[in-house]
Amino acid sequence: MQPADPKSNSALAVECQHLTRRFGKIEALAGVSLNVRRGEFFSLLGPSGCGKTTLLRIIAGLDLPDSGGLRIGGIESLRLPAWKRPVNTVFQSYALFPHLSVSENIAFGLRMKRLSAIEITRRTTSVMELTQIMPLAARHPNELSGGQKQRVALARAIVNEPQVLLLDEPLGALDLKLRKELQLELHHLQQRLEMTFVHVTHDQDEAMTMSDRVAVMNAGRVEQLGTPEEIYERPKTRFVAEFIGECNLFEGKFISRDGSRLEADSPLGRLRIDLPSTAIELAEQGKLLLGIRPERISLVGGHAGDNRVLGRIEEITFNGAESRYRINLGKVGLRVTELNTGRRDVGLFVGDSVEVALAPGNIFLLEG
Ligand SMILES: Nc1ncnc2c1ncn2[C@@H]1O[C@H](COP(=O)(O)OP(=O)(O)OP(=O)(O)O)[C@@H](O)[C@H]1O
Ligand SMILES: [Mg+2]
Repeated sequence: MQPADPKSNSALAVECQHLTRRFGKIEALAGVSLNVRRGEFFSLLGPSGCGKTTLLRIIAGLDLPDSGGLRIGGIESLRLPAWKRPVNTVFQSYALFPHLSVSENIAFGLRMKRLSAIEITRRTTSVMELTQIMPLAARHPNELSGGQKQRVALARAIVNEPQVLLLDEPLGALDLKLRKELQLELHHLQQRLEMTFVHVTHDQDEAMTMSDRVAVMNAGRVEQLGTPEEIYERPKTRFVAEFIGECNLFEGKFISRDGSRLEADSPLGRLRIDLPSTAIELAEQGKLLLGIRPERISLVGGHAGDNRVLGRIEEITFNGAESRYRINLGKVGLRVTELNTGRRDVGLFVGDSVEVALAPGNIFLLEG
């Protein structure tokens, strides 16, 4: 199936420019600018109330911003009514027509568009095959499980061949196992359709596993936009570092810089830190907020050139695949995670002294 828009050849599927939206005193969107590329799986990720649904509703044409601009497929769209926009939305509540069968639910939109009976059957069948619901075609929504209803809701949106599919927590109502299954399916489906998906979730794992790029939102703003790797490896702010994965945070003071290598004072002692060129300016401001992921710290060993600090093991939690340690380093504590590879000759115990190694390239610098 091809994304339907012969008119536009913009490489950008959705362009949001400084969108703002207030509800009384609440600033739901405080100036959101972002571009979604054509054919990408894009996620809006953030905690409850950060403005995800508000942004999606504005793109869908179900709400208007107070200010800002919106282009869909390169075309100015704020003044277009919802039904004229090349988008379809899948909500968390499936909103299927209870009196229609699965295939009739899916065909409904096409009938409204007065397509020929042959075309309706062709497209409905093709989409039911794609979403693996052929055997359910004659059932009614009350005869379906939650996961099956969700597939029907997806099929019903996809069958219209929108340029952009908007998904608002589409898997939110499902149990964890089914969610994981459908996450993978949704990802494969998007790749096969080459359709642009804008997906809303507050679940970081879901956003990371499914998306080409993620916009992390907080209080009506985009804090960071990038690939899952970029956001995890190089979080820009404290909020992003803490919202995505686990992170040790501590303060530091700028001492000197030699190229991209920084010397800083910290509660862990003097540290060497390797920074990407984009972070250098921030580093020279003096007071620093530093972070490192628990799995990027090594206990015992490490490499020549790592920062090494002596500490004491305060707590060990074993959970099968990995062990988690809390290390006391005097002025500060660190969480360290290690995969249980079975390669360590001698076990570590609470109370043991250990050398903690922090590679200069694994420490990142955050904006407050
Ligand atoms: N129609 C409305 N009237 C008043 N306030 C609203 C309205 N819609 C949203 N809000 C407020 O705007 C803010 C953003 O809401 P939004 O629904 O966009 O959040 P969200 O990120 O989708 O959250 P969730 O993950 O809980 O769905 C919230 O504080 C919410 O209470
Ligand atoms: Mg929402």
